[in-house]
Amino acid sequence: MEAFVCRSYEELSRKAAFAVANVLNTKPNAVLGMATGSTPLGLYQELVRMHEEESLDFSQVTTFNLDEYVGLPVTHDQSYHYFMHENFFKKVNIPNSNIHIPSGTTSNYQAFCQWYEQRIKECGGIDVQILGIGSDGHIAFNEPTSSLASRTRLKTLAQQTINDNARFFDKAEDVPIYGITMGVGTILEARKLVLVANGENKADAIAKAIEGPVTSMITASALQLHPDVDIFIDEAAASRLQMRDYYTWIQAKKPGAPQL
Ligand code: GLP
Repeated sequence: MEAFVCRSYEELSRKAAFAVANVLNTKPNAVLGMATGSTPLGLYQELVRMHEEESLDFSQVTTFNLDEYVGLPVTHDQSYHYFMHENFFKKVNIPNSNIHIPSGTTSNYQAFCQWYEQRIKECGGIDVQILGIGSDGHIAFNEPTSSLASRTRLKTLAQQTINDNARFFDKAEDVPIYGITMGVGTILEARKLVLVANGENKADAIAKAIEGPVTSMITASALQLHPDVDIFIDEAAASRLQMRDYYTWIQAKKPGAPQL
């Protein structure tokens, strides 16, 4: 796990996008794991800029989104389908048939979840998974006490998540109570993980995810079990890290480190 403490949201977004683009440059038919929430917006803007100005090509890319609200039609402006199309998919050249987003309106969730897992495998697994983090330490919709071995399934959202996400809806009662989400076990199988977080309200979750014990109470702490995780955060999100200075020291000393 490597933590990159950045000076601004713009810098962390740029660096995270660079990490994702690196995977694409070495593997043009990479499988990308996509995340929603406000935090990855800067990362997506930067990938779109690279597509427009530097010919970053998505024509062979396949994507799998982490999660979706249950009950929102894809046309609802708060559905993750809508979010992804508006903020990313309509701006790059990923073939529509290569885009996968969990369905929040299927008539058979169990069958859909099994199909989603199977489809990820058929596509060769996820090469790089983008992640945000909830203020309660969740990744995707894996709320506290989610099994660290969990697979794609339905989850009941925690009150804290409903409160956090109420800002996007007219009123808190409009926030769906259920989500369909990749499991922690699904996420841990991606070859590389890139997590972005900014702001003081993420500082506690980030400290627990990076430095706390591995626990289902903070599902992002399971990332400690993964061999290749890059975490891009701003100063505010890094403010409760005990080893914050060490992470900056590691980056400063990188140029002189022995080559692998
Ligand atoms: C939702 C999403 C998560 C996301 C989280 C944080 O709960 N399911 O994937 O990480 O929101 O969102 P934001 O980046 O807006 O703080």
